Amino acid sequence: MRVIESVADIKLAARAARCDGKTIGFVPTMGFFHEGHLSLMRAARSENDLVVVSLFVNPTQFGPNEDLDRYPRDRNRDVELAMGAGTDLLFVPRAEEIYPSDDCSRVVVRRLSEKLCGASRPGHFEGVATVVAKLFNMTQPHRAYFGLKDYQQTVVIRRMVADLHLDVDIVTLPTVRESDGLALSSRNSYLSPEERRTARCLKESLELAERRIHEGDRLGDQIRGNIRERIGREKLARIDYVSVSDPQTLDEVSQITGDVVISLAVCIGETRLIDNLVVNVTS
Ligand code: PAF
Repeated sequence: MRVIESVADIKLAARAARCDGKTIGFVPTMGFFHEGHLSLMRAARSENDLVVVSLFVNPTQFGPNEDLDRYPRDRNRDVELAMGAGTDLLFVPRAEEIYPSDDCSRVVVRRLSEKLCGASRPGHFEGVATVVAKLFNMTQPHRAYFGLKDYQQTVVIRRMVADLHLDVDIVTLPTVRESDGLALSSRNSYLSPEERRTARCLKESLELAERRIHEGDRLGDQIRGNIRERIGREKLARIDYVSVSDPQTLDEVSQITGDVVISLAVCIGETRLIDNLVVNVTS
């Protein structure tokens, strides 16, 4: 595995691979790898000739009072794990090269970026779309891999790819979970043991909602209420949002007549966690 730090070098490597007729699979990440990241890398390995992984804690997707400075980082461990998962090129750019001081451009995916996490984290998806567009241009992938834990992110990226006519297939993979159901996230490392126990309420409340829908409850408000009631029992948990929405438009659903995505953002102590579940409904 080669570690590449400069934009010129990653572009050269991508161009050379394309000239040789190789397919490129790309996994964008912010590092501090866990099984979720590794599952994306392994999928990219099995479907492409060249696997490129980027490791970049993207400053523009963090709000002014968020955790950019303390976001967990462990480059040496990440290098080992990426290599073990079959990565060919690990791209670790410097922020000054991704965002030079005279940088003026941003990618805005309107509407979809304003809901759910976008409502509580203004500018977050603008930062995500911008960096992903830049990284796509640098790495020239045929396929790019994203985890469904960030469900809204996958919807925003697919929209950007369609709107900008980018020539890349977006591949999404299921959320990887701990044995008690907690979705893997680099931010789980912030949780104290008591908070970690409390964090189970996200998956439990999603499962409760899914059960209720399958039992015939079809009112969005009722399902949102069931989830709020379940999480409300946890003294360390504070709900940011509970959503029952259309899986494509992310519009809130009042009467459930087809598939829905249930999404949650919950602060456990100081740590904001997200999770979601797509519920298939045959009306
Ligand atoms: O999902 C993430 O880790 C980030 O949002 C991404 C896609 C790497 C962009 O910085």
